[in-house]
Amino acid sequence: MKNVKVLWVIILLLLMVSGGLVYKFVTGKVSASDDGRTNVILTKDERNLILQEMRDFLISVQAVSQAITENDMDKVADLAHKAGMAAEADTPGSLLQKIPLSMKTLGFGTRKKFDEISVTAKTKDAKLARQQLDTLMQNCIACHAMYRLPEPQ
Ligand code: HEC
Repeated sequence: MKNVKVLWVIILLLLMVSGGLVYKFVTGKVSASDDGRTNVILTKDERNLILQEMRDFLISVQAVSQAITENDMDKVADLAHKAGMAAEADTPGSLLQKIPLSMKTLGFGTRKKFDEISVTAKTKDAKLARQQLDTLMQNCIACHAMYRLPEPQ
């Protein structure tokens, strides 16, 4: 009987830990920002990593747009692929835990949209690729409207 009790305590503890992890995965590490957005609280290095990814996003959007204009669809396919999910391989799990689920969804959604553009580029459909880039940029706008990355104090 004693063993059963111990087992229940262990099960309960495990449930609490996994529940806590799921909760963190959904909410992330956040606080309210005085400009109406949500602060995502990261360390200095994590913040620098994300902001670097952001500057790379801007470079990718510009380069893909220019390649579409120049109708160089092989280049579009290559650039868009590099900015897609392939770029996410090195993102540390600890960082993902601090980012709220809706922000993760928008972030991965943006990567997937780059992958879609890469697929479209292989069919040489420049007009569709342009439309997909227009839609992709709505993700940039949506996320910036919702979240901030305050500098660590
Ligand atoms: C999942 C959310 C998210 C998406 C999607 C997103 N961003 Fe950002 N971006 C942020 C946040 C948060 C910041 C920090 C804003 C702040 O603190 O005010 C930021 C900052 C930036 C910065 C400033 C970088 C710096 O060094 O300060 C640039 C440039 C940028 N984003 C470009 C883009 C572009 C271009 C896209 C779309 C291709 C994009 N972002 C998509 C969340 C996002």
